[in-house]
Amino acid sequence: MKNTVVVGAQWGDEGKAKITDLLAEYADVIIRYQGGCNAGHTVVVNNETYKFHLIPSGVLYKNKFCFIGAGTVIHPETFLKETQDLIQRGVDLSSLKISPLATITLPYHIDIDGINETNSNKNKIGTTKKGIGPTYSDKIGRYGLKIQDLYDEESLNTRLDAILPLKNKILEKVYNSKTYSKEEILERCREYAIIFKPYLCTDWVQKLSNAIKEDKKILFEGAQGIMLDIDYGTYPYVTSSNPIGGAAATGSGIGPTHIKNIIGVTKAYITRVGEGPFITELTDSIGDKIRTIGGEYGTTTGRPRRCGWFDAVLSRYCVLVGGLTQMAITKIDVFNDFDELKVCIAYKDKRNGKLYNDYPTNINLHKYLEPVYETFKGWNSDISNAKSLEDLPLNARTYLKKLEELVGIPIKIISVGADREQTIILENPFK
Ligand code: IMP
Repeated sequence: MKNTVVVGAQWGDEGKAKITDLLAEYADVIIRYQGGCNAGHTVVVNNETYKFHLIPSGVLYKNKFCFIGAGTVIHPETFLKETQDLIQRGVDLSSLKISPLATITLPYHIDIDGINETNSNKNKIGTTKKGIGPTYSDKIGRYGLKIQDLYDEESLNTRLDAILPLKNKILEKVYNSKTYSKEEILERCREYAIIFKPYLCTDWVQKLSNAIKEDKKILFEGAQGIMLDIDYGTYPYVTSSNPIGGAAATGSGIGPTHIKNIIGVTKAYITRVGEGPFITELTDSIGDKIRTIGGEYGTTTGRPRRCGWFDAVLSRYCVLVGGLTQMAITKIDVFNDFDELKVCIAYKDKRNGKLYNDYPTNINLHKYLEPVYETFKGWNSDISNAKSLEDLPLNARTYLKKLEELVGIPIKIISVGADREQTIILENPFK
């Protein structure tokens, strides 16, 4: 059994898509298991750029079973656009399947997310405004619609009779926003049923059981990052799902005993979009330099990302809560032209000098914490064509070795550029 999960081990945007795309070549089954169209996964193949929000990037390979699991929330219009764009570019989607248990993002979820973000400045999370929080809230509150509900108009009617009066009251009285008639939502649901039909996987239990029995190689594709986890991230500045490795099991319907490896993808530095604490954030010219060279602007929203030095304290925490067995380091080439690099090895409380080697999960403390750095020499050369560890300059190897030591798990993949080819794979989990 070689089943492998790829998760982001920072605040998202670590370059997971490139790593999943690379590993997908060796996998038989690829499963996206949480999040929604808040994700933006960019893959570059032969200088062609593909941007995915909901669909597993594994669809770029032929004959792989690509599955969108029950843990996801699906905005039908985004799904439609993404499938149409891919089909237009000649990508065969016949192996793409979606769980009937995935939850639908309805129009009012997006309205509410947008209003929350514009009006309540004090509580602003900096969301992607894709309706993620409101959709997951309804799912957990049992006011959501699953894709399977679209195919039985009688039960859909009953469900909407239970959901809409309450939802409309909230929209009108709390949000002072547009309400939705049952006919309007029913009409949309009829359209959604058509959109999902070609991809609906009613026999997913059988398909995934067979994959396990036949010892197929399963790749679980995470979205966002561990520090955005609803339970373990910097709450409330988080997304509304669980990007930790364990969610691969709950979100896909395949139990944790079928998972062998969990790869934590980390940039050689850190970025974050939206609000929330970020102890190693650089608000100076070094942060600007990283943003410019690294092209650090959101795939989904275009927002400039906040940039900072690598944080080993945070990474060790991600190893624990994310169940990481190894790291994939991306974007190390962004440092080609840096004289020196820093890595945060501990936090210091500005009030009393107390040192923290373990990540404090109480974010109310974070405003008092400052990073303690260790400094490394840069390599001042272009490493974007390196094919092996030996091709990297000594200073780059020293930097990576130190990250391994500080984080406590091995680095198995090093990405030195956006293209598939620009990757040093020290060990492939599927081989
Ligand atoms: P939401 O997921 O749209 O509700 O946004 C909640 C927080 O997660 C915000 O800070 C977003 O910027 C962040 N976020 C959501 N998806 C991603 C992602 O794919 N990459 C990076 N940040 C994300």
